[in-house]
Amino acid sequence: MAQMASKSLTSAAILLLLLLDWSATPTVARVRNRHRPCKRMVFYFHDILYNEHNAKNATAAIVGAPAWGNTTILAGQNHFGNVVVFDDPITLDNNLHSPAVGRAQGFYLYDKKDVFTAWLGFSFVFNSSEHKGSINFAGADPLMNKTREISVIGGTGEFFMARGVATLMTDAFEGEVYFRLRADIRLYECW
Ligand SMILES: *[C@@H]1O[C@H](CO)[C@@H](O)[C@H](O)[C@H]1NC(C)=O
Ligand SMILES: *[C@@H]1O[C@H](CO)[C@@H](O)[C@H](O)[C@H]1NC(C)=O
Ligand SMILES: *[C@@H]1O[C@H](CO)[C@@H](O)[C@H](O)[C@H]1NC(C)=O
Ligand SMILES: *[C@@H]1O[C@H](CO)[C@@H](O)[C@H](O)[C@H]1NC(C)=O
Repeated sequence: MAQMASKSLTSAAILLLLLLDWSATPTVARVRNRHRPCKRMVFYFHDILYNEHNAKNATAAIVGAPAWGNTTILAGQNHFGNVVVFDDPITLDNNLHSPAVGRAQGFYLYDKKDVFTAWLGFSFVFNSSEHKGSINFAGADPLMNKTREISVIGGTGEFFMARGVATLMTDAFEGEVYFRLRADIRLYECW
């Protein structure tokens, strides 16, 4: 009898501990208000696509082309089937020659024949006095839209476990060699 009582007392104690532990778990505040990001940052990144004549300055290269194209020139039909790998400088303003605070590294691919649209997968990699860490992005980039939203799917370092949305805008577009994107990043989960 006494043994049973002490057993249920132990179970109750364990349950209490579990409850306490569960309620104490989120030690760091998470912001879950869709109207109020916990962090907001604006960056620009600059993409110079290799075109046979700019090997020295190019920051991006076509690495995949459909059977009817090649890796020197973006294919017809809205570049469908092209895959481009990039390592673009990130700046705080829209000047290509401003000091880079990090690199935008990843790829974009064109995935629709009849509409000019792309899919992006890349990271902002920071190792500067301003920022240390990385932010990872993925999502559809419907280029005909003035602004497009892509997902912030994670981060490391200063941006540990970051989640949110980035609004992309093509800030400049010069032929098929140079473009500049403005990224307005809003994080809704900050640690
Ligand atoms: C490379 O960049 C420099 C500096 O912006 C520019 O003067 C030069 O014309 C560029 N070269 C090519 C081949 O685009
Ligand atoms: C790549 O394709 C373009 C357009 O079809 C063509 O003008 C160019 O000569 C091709 N370049 C190579 C290296 O095959
Ligand atoms: C970041 O920069 C520091 C100082 O320049 C350097 O020692 C370190 O290796 C860099 N880290 C990475 C991951 O590039
Ligand atoms: C494209 O723009 C339209 C109208 O501005 C907007 O409703 C839509 O959500 C945008 N699409 C994306 C994927 O950003």
